[in-house]
Amino acid sequence: MNDLTVVVLAAGKGTRMKSATPKLLFDAAGRPLGTWPVGVALALHPARVVVVVGHGRDDLQQVLRTRFPHAPLAFAPQKEQLGTGHALRCALPLVPRSTRRLLVLCGDAPLVTPAPLRRLLARARGRTLAMFTSAVTDPAMYGRVLRDERGRVTRIVEHRDATPELRLVREVNPGVYVFDPAFLRNALRRLGRGNVQGEFYLTDVVELAARTANGVADLPVPFDDLRGVNNRAELAEAEATLLERIRRDWMVAGVTIRAPQTVRIEADVRLAPDVELGPGVQLLGRTTVARGTTIGAGCVLRDVAVARNAVLRPFVVATESSIGPGAQVGPFAHLRPKSTIGREAHVGNFVETKNTVMHPGAKANHLAYVGDGDIGRRTNVGAGTIFCNYDGFGKWRTVLGEDVFVGSDSQLVAPVTVGDGAYVASGSTIVEDVPPGALAVARGRQVVKPGYAKRLRARLAARKSRQHN
Ligand code: UD1
Ligand code: CA
Repeated sequence: MNDLTVVVLAAGKGTRMKSATPKLLFDAAGRPLGTWPVGVALALHPARVVVVVGHGRDDLQQVLRTRFPHAPLAFAPQKEQLGTGHALRCALPLVPRSTRRLLVLCGDAPLVTPAPLRRLLARARGRTLAMFTSAVTDPAMYGRVLRDERGRVTRIVEHRDATPELRLVREVNPGVYVFDPAFLRNALRRLGRGNVQGEFYLTDVVELAARTANGVADLPVPFDDLRGVNNRAELAEAEATLLERIRRDWMVAGVTIRAPQTVRIEADVRLAPDVELGPGVQLLGRTTVARGTTIGAGCVLRDVAVARNAVLRPFVVATESSIGPGAQVGPFAHLRPKSTIGREAHVGNFVETKNTVMHPGAKANHLAYVGDGDIGRRTNVGAGTIFCNYDGFGKWRTVLGEDVFVGSDSQLVAPVTVGDGAYVASGSTIVEDVPPGALAVARGRQVVKPGYAKRLRARLAARKSRQHN
């Protein structure tokens, strides 16, 4: 659509968020809020998307450029936030001359989708202005849509400027418009600031458009998809809708989700069919899950790649890691960044990994810390084993070869290497390398004194009675 340009108004501070973070950088379902409307704008394939930026300008520009690297984006600075009309005026120098239809979106309305926008664009043909309107039960702070006796839109009155009677109007302005650019250039010059907020209101343009021969076309739409985010309560509501859509799409694509309302799947997560997610699962960031994998209740995965047919039992917490095909992890396992769990490897309950490779078939099934480790194929790390990777200054690696057996309650003081097929006896503190095939025992030798228990009891009982007399 080369005669289409979209302007996204995104310079406002978001005062009602009460935050040092600019509103449009708040997270909504795993993406900064402001990327949602810009993404929808780009989906319409316009000649250009002009984003009006002010508060948090540098950060927002960077976020958008990173997210949409080859998109026809342009940024129009608005130095002082003098209102939505002023913001759109700042965008005009970047609107190509060939533009016949100018779509305006608000940066703080993340729920709008391309389909109703296409209908609005169709409605706009030959009209000065086409706009959405919504009938609502609670008009809150939104601008009210006023109509004449023939039902034509005549103007918008902002909530703050509305008399008590006008506040009773329950038809509101969702803030989405398609303008005839020739009209708009002229109309924006005529705006004044004679209102409660002392701002240039874009909404005042509606009255000017209504007076033109081609007039205003309105398209009633359900408000749920157009809600703006002005405070954190509204952010939570909007995010809930985004997450619900994401879950629905995945379920339709073949993913089973138990108790879906409790499950968070962020927007950049990718899932295959026949993945199953238990209640309370959170899949965050760029997590991917391949076919046939089950993720149990309460697992939280951020930027994790899970391969086919893996089983994550409940309450696995994993970050920036990968889990191989057929691997079994949890319950209650913690994979910290750079953990690579190989094919059919096992990481059991209360096991913590970090910057660790578990090669195929390796196992650490119970109560272990195996940080900065390299655990060879089929090697078994016994219960209670600790890789002592930190000496207070640096981090060091523990390297276990293939088919190694580490007995329970051992410590491996890194840097240390245990060769293929070696055995480490239970309760050992290993400080020196163990060659392949060797048995390392590093603990006090057991002493057994036959019959000694009886004598020991007698001695202890005598001491106790002395103390009491
Ligand atoms: C605006 C509309 C209101 C409508 C509502 C829908 C006006 C005057 N009012 O009110 O009728 O019901 O949206 O959500 O237009 N912005 C700038 N520069 C500015 C001011 C705002 O870029 O100087 C941007 C904001 O970042 C935001 C958008 O414009 O993304 C809307 O601004 P906001 O102050 O939230 O307007 P509302 O009071 O919600
Ligand atoms: Ca708003």
